[in-house]
Amino acid sequence: MKLIYLSLYLIFQNVETMNSVAKYNITQLDQLKQKSIIRGEYKDVAQESAGAIISNARSVGFVGGLKNSSPLRNAIYYMISGGYCYVGLSQFIIIDLLQTYEINTIKIWLYDRDPTFIRTYDIQIFASGLGINDQLIYESNNSKSVTIIKFSDTLIKQIKIKNRNGSSLDQWLVILKIQAFYAF
Ligand SMILES: *[C@@H]1O[C@H](CO)[C@@H](O)[C@H](O)[C@H]1NC(C)=O
Ligand SMILES: *[C@@H]1O[C@H](CO)[C@@H](O)[C@H](O)[C@H]1NC(C)=O
Ligand SMILES: *[C@@H]1O[C@H](CO)[C@@H](O)[C@H](O)[C@H]1NC(C)=O
Repeated sequence: MKLIYLSLYLIFQNVETMNSVAKYNITQLDQLKQKSIIRGEYKDVAQESAGAIISNARSVGFVGGLKNSSPLRNAIYYMISGGYCYVGLSQFIIIDLLQTYEINTIKIWLYDRDPTFIRTYDIQIFASGLGINDQLIYESNNSKSVTIIKFSDTLIKQIKIKNRNGSSLDQWLVILKIQAFYAF
């Protein structure tokens, strides 16, 4: 993401010199710059430092202490015990973004630390935002480990992850990390 930002910056710096071979004219560069803002500068907008919160946190279980259990945290590699959150059957994990962002990718890291097998989960993901209300953007009963969900460019303010039917092991939906961003 940083690389894209850097390249855009370099393009802006060198518009004159690059003009003969530039892929974008000034108007298009202007539009790209505008889009970068609504797209959260191509960074993960579902993180604490971007102002995202789990708005139904009182109904979500957190294991691993204050700093190490939220799926919106950045310190995700310290996992001696815990390091995840969970909800029961038919329950949701609801993420409210700081503002409406145009994104097209959600990445979810589902608990995959079982010693001899990989758990599969039955989940659904809904999005609300500009012109959409709890729109289904993903469903699968075979989601596992790091699951990447791509969808068309959408203006999103809230993401709901539903535990539709637990995992191949038990009734719980267990999540290590969530990211939401715009990817080219
Ligand atoms: C920039 O490129 C777009 C798409 O090719 C074109 O429609 C537009 O007229 C161009 N604008 C300028 C200022 O050259
Ligand atoms: C998952 O969904 C497929 C397609 O709907 C279905 O055939 C299969 O039985 C389901 N598996 C489980 C474990 O629910
Ligand atoms: C829900 O999961 C259970 C246990 O894995 C399975 O037996 C059942 O068929 C699933 N139900 C649906 C509707 O997929």
